[in-house]
Amino acid sequence: MAGPLRFDGKVVLVTGAGNGLGRAYALAFAERGASVVVNDLGGSAFGEGRGSKAADDVVNEIVSKGGKAVANYDSVENGDKVVQTALDAYGRIDVVVNNAGILRDKTFARLSEEDWDIVHRVHLKGSFLVTRAAWPHMRKQGFGRIIMISSTSGIYGNFGQANYSAAKLGLAGLSNTLSLEGAKYGIYCNCVAPTAGSRLTETIMPKELVQALKPEYVAPVIVYLCHESCKETGGLFEVGGGWAAKLRWQRSEGAVLRDKNDLFSAESVRDNWSKVVDFANYTTPKSNQEATGHIMNLVNKFDQEKKEAQVAADSKDPV
Ligand code: NAI
Repeated sequence: MAGPLRFDGKVVLVTGAGNGLGRAYALAFAERGASVVVNDLGGSAFGEGRGSKAADDVVNEIVSKGGKAVANYDSVENGDKVVQTALDAYGRIDVVVNNAGILRDKTFARLSEEDWDIVHRVHLKGSFLVTRAAWPHMRKQGFGRIIMISSTSGIYGNFGQANYSAAKLGLAGLSNTLSLEGAKYGIYCNCVAPTAGSRLTETIMPKELVQALKPEYVAPVIVYLCHESCKETGGLFEVGGGWAAKLRWQRSEGAVLRDKNDLFSAESVRDNWSKVVDFANYTTPKSNQEATGHIMNLVNKFDQEKKEAQVAADSKDPV
């Protein structure tokens, strides 16, 4: 049996670590020996105001338990400054958990450009800027672990959260590409959609559920994914209540809708639609190459068949 998962000598940055899930992640890493940067802007769940108390309280809690932590109060929109705190305090950065977040829930008909922009700036652009600042250091040291925090609202959609769901699924796309670009440098990136009681969910979940779904029932999965022994990368996980599962794309077998004479009409689409959406013989493409390769093979097959038909016709009808 392998030993405990330790983070001695590792520097972990958790954004938005002054409350809720981020706080639980920061405490869990610190308990296992990591030096933790507790970033938090200290504003409201709506993204207004700022303050140092949220981050300071978590740093004090970690230090009082004998752990190592420093605070950073910058917005994730200033990714360079957030990462600089790790470099100034500990001289390196090994793990980034992009957790900071706010909500501006409105039905789509009432969604303003400002509510769209601020949610994208904090979730999607903030995660990009923080990760971009850490990336060259991770590349140089040949090691890095990155977590993008997504949401089931992004994966499945959620009424009143068009801005948030778009940003959160954007993080899954970002994670997919970073996992490809980071692999040869030992940088692994995964995406987690958590469910937990917090100030973000207390307005929509019954009180008992908010208390039952503890952030501590998510944190160990984040810790494991960020450990040097964990080789998982490019994954998307749902985690909550002490349960974790991996998601993947399924693709129906599909149907070729044009005929050998290149005729492709909306009517042929209509008449074959049940085949397009039939998942009986699904596949699970694991890469862009695998996904588009199928189309390339089909096109080549069509071309080949056309050439063979032409040769056959020419041989029947010599000039
Ligand atoms: P929370 O509101 O308790 O914690 C979020 C923290 O981020 C707050 O302390 C806030 O001050 C900080 N923050 C906000 N904007 C910031 C910025 N620009 N720069 C730095 N810090 C900033 O919320 P919770 O529930 O713990 O959420 C954490 C993450 O998990 C968020 O990304 C959220 O979208 C995501 N999430 C949470 C779910 C849940 O069930 N609680 C469900 C799905 C996703």
